[in-house]
Amino acid sequence: MKRGKSDTKLDTFVSLSKQRSIQIVIAVAVFYMLLVTLEIPFVFDSRFTSETTTATSTTLTRFSHLQSEQDLHDKDAPSRPMNWVSHNSAQPMRSQLARSTTKPNKILSTLGFEPKTFDPTKKDGSVSLHKAAKTAWEDGLKIWDEMESGKMQVLEVKKPENKSEPCPNSVSLSGSEFLKRMRMVELPCGLTLGSHITVVGKPRAAHAEKDPKIALVKEAGETVMVSQFMMELLGLKTVEAEDPPRILHFNPRLKGDWSLKPVIEQNTCYRMQWGTALRCEGWGSKADEETVDGQVKCEKWVRDDEDDDKSEESKATWWLNRLIGRTKKVSFDWPYPFAEEKLFVLTLSAGLEGYHINVDGRHATSFPYRTGYTLEDATGLAVTGDIDVHSVFAASLPSNHPSFSPQRHLEMSSRWKAPPLSVGSVELFIGVLSAGNHFSERMAVRKSWMQHRLIKSSNVVARFFVALHARKEVNLELKKEAEFFGDIVIVPYMDNYDLVVLKTVAICEYGVRTVRAKYIMKGDDDTFVRVDSIIDEVNEIPAGRSLYIGNINYYHKPLRYGKWAVTYEEWPEEDYPPYANGPGYILSSDIGRFIVSEFESHKLRLFKMEDVSMGMWVEQFNSSRPVEYVHSLKFCQFGCIEGYYTAHYQSPKQMICLWEKLQKQGRPQCCNMR
Ligand SMILES: *[C@@H]1O[C@H](CO)[C@@H](O)[C@H](O)[C@H]1NC(C)=O
Ligand SMILES: *[C@@H]1O[C@H](CO)[C@@H](O)[C@H](O)[C@H]1NC(C)=O
Repeated sequence: MKRGKSDTKLDTFVSLSKQRSIQIVIAVAVFYMLLVTLEIPFVFDSRFTSETTTATSTTLTRFSHLQSEQDLHDKDAPSRPMNWVSHNSAQPMRSQLARSTTKPNKILSTLGFEPKTFDPTKKDGSVSLHKAAKTAWEDGLKIWDEMESGKMQVLEVKKPENKSEPCPNSVSLSGSEFLKRMRMVELPCGLTLGSHITVVGKPRAAHAEKDPKIALVKEAGETVMVSQFMMELLGLKTVEAEDPPRILHFNPRLKGDWSLKPVIEQNTCYRMQWGTALRCEGWGSKADEETVDGQVKCEKWVRDDEDDDKSEESKATWWLNRLIGRTKKVSFDWPYPFAEEKLFVLTLSAGLEGYHINVDGRHATSFPYRTGYTLEDATGLAVTGDIDVHSVFAASLPSNHPSFSPQRHLEMSSRWKAPPLSVGSVELFIGVLSAGNHFSERMAVRKSWMQHRLIKSSNVVARFFVALHARKEVNLELKKEAEFFGDIVIVPYMDNYDLVVLKTVAICEYGVRTVRAKYIMKGDDDTFVRVDSIIDEVNEIPAGRSLYIGNINYYHKPLRYGKWAVTYEEWPEEDYPPYANGPGYILSSDIGRFIVSEFESHKLRLFKMEDVSMGMWVEQFNSSRPVEYVHSLKFCQFGCIEGYYTAHYQSPKQMICLWEKLQKQGRPQCCNMR
């Protein structure tokens, strides 16, 4: 349809008033056509991106390719199997706690461990771990005694630094000033909603590296060309000799990644543990994947393994194709946002649901906030690696120190108290690993799956296992919480991420001695447990047999390089035993009894990964009495899958959501918000 021609015709033949209305009609028609032409690429696009069903099932297939733990580490590096402890900035809490009705001695683990008589010198590969355990236990007992005697008191909540000096609204640094400050910008009051930081920089050209942590070197002496940099939002250093938590880790790898392609990795590291990395590899996010403030987590970019002509051509023919309404090749692809020795302008901004990163004015990635930190905790920005920073500019910063509000997480209602232990037999005991300052995580568990009727009726018993925190005020609040709810068992050692395995032993001890349960399950405070499906799983095995159920890893090998390398001293063998992933596994109580007795007679070999340790103990047990190993992917390690038995990495909000879905729909469905 030719617009110009029809216009002239109309001019000659139609009266003025009529002409006006027809012009409107034509304008609408043209606008409609424009819309239709614009619509085509969107429709086309989504058909392409949604070809692989759901986000979770994609992750599943990706994971099933992994052959060994080494693979897992490569592909998801930096990450580390379940092995965590909290040292993040806990805020002291002021609450009106009711008088406890539980006997105080109930809240302390009765696991026998006498540091004085304990002699770690005779131990095999795990000497250093035994030594650390001895020290941590001695320190912990000292703190516990102080708390019991009432000597320990917390002075009024510490006031933040001088209030008279409000924080600046913006911070601006030149490249040389930035270098002088050790490549770090201090953000005294942290960030707030809408804050943004702009970094102008230039990635350096790739250089040869002998031991790149991001790729595998096949032969000794071989080098890999690497160019990568890290931009990190850091939290306050909370514990001496420990790295400050990385609230956001943004890591573009221009060259040198194991995939041989440029990628952007995003992650978070708290409680000294890396989360699951979010890798952007240029494919773009799936159409049905969760977004962050409506933005995709990963934008698509041109990969050099794609048809090069296609992308070149698409640039040229993009508009043409649109105008003539052809549906072929209509998307325009941008290149990877960073290039060696090419200046970029990157802006990181804090949204409602997560961080957004724009490079040269275009959205590149988004990263959802993870639990454990708030924006105020991000008090520093560091940019390191193969990059020259020209300037850094942070603005819309909060002008006041965050008020240290008391913990609002605990709901001191008797509704959430643990029911008394039953005198009859208990089918299942669930021990949940937690850390002192995880108040909100524990509360979410109490209000969700711990409300299960089997737990309310004491057929199933669940308890949190917590060690002592580096901060006094956390311990005092923890003790009050334990006395009120009656669902916390304190294992009296100074919490340390390498000693999580001690909590596992304490879980066995409590399950065997205090609860006398037939089966013992271990979970984490971010694990959602479907209690009845666990009971069903267990009942599949004829009564009286020894069992070990979980998401079992076979033929995994220790990672011998990189940040989380396991030394030969720690683990001399080449392979790990078959072991169930830490966030949820079950064993029969005879195995639990064996573990406790070996531990108390100082014979139990300890390894810093509690799940591998368990695999080792079960293997040992199996050598004298057969154990049924049951493997199921429904004990989901990396998140949540439909039909799960357990779901991991669930935020307090997700816990409640999963529970509500289970109640309302009667089906185990996942919740995809944070
Ligand atoms: C706080 O401010 C007061 C007076 O303005 C000053 O004397 C004091 O040294 C300041 N304290 C700190 C920790 O900066
Ligand atoms: C358990 O022991 C049996 C009998 O010795 C053996 O055949 C089996 O391979 C063992 N299982 C594992 C997982 O070690």
